[in-house]
Amino acid sequence: MQGKLLILWAWAVLLVACGGAVEPTAVPTPTLTAQEMLGKTVFQQNCASCHSNVADQIIVGPSLFGVAQRAVSRVPGQDAQTYLLTSIMRPNDYVVAGFDNLMPESFAKSLTGEEIDAVVAYLLTLK
Ligand code: HEC
Repeated sequence: MQGKLLILWAWAVLLVACGGAVEPTAVPTPTLTAQEMLGKTVFQQNCASCHSNVADQIIVGPSLFGVAQRAVSRVPGQDAQTYLLTSIMRPNDYVVAGFDNLMPESFAKSLTGEEIDAVVAYLLTLK
């Protein structure tokens, strides 16, 4: 009896061990820095009513999924960070093709510098 139990136990251990080895390695959830976390909150409170961060999901404005990649080449001479900052501070400077110029101009006043930097840092994580 004891021997049978031991075999069962060994079998279970083997199954678990093999299962672990065959399982695809889980993609770790990217961890956000404290600044990016603040930016995510700012985004949820001020931007998410118009912008999704899911691919191709248009609310009022374009989805910001992958915006960190697009931002690099939107305006010649502007790097991603500058483009994103300008999009928030002066949204009329560049209007995304196919969209109306509906983004509020009020964020430069209603958000603090810290919040704006944070939301830009968060957008830069949307690759
Ligand atoms: C009332 C709706 C609305 C809100 C709220 C809003 N936006 Fe927008 N946003 C738009 C629209 C519409 C566009 C596309 C037209 C344009 O470029 O101005 C846009 C464009 C953008 C772009 C350019 C995207 C690209 O692909 O180049 C960025 C970046 C952006 N918004 C960021 C933000 C952030 C950050 C906030 C919150 C602080 C925000 N928006 C809040 C409507 C909104």
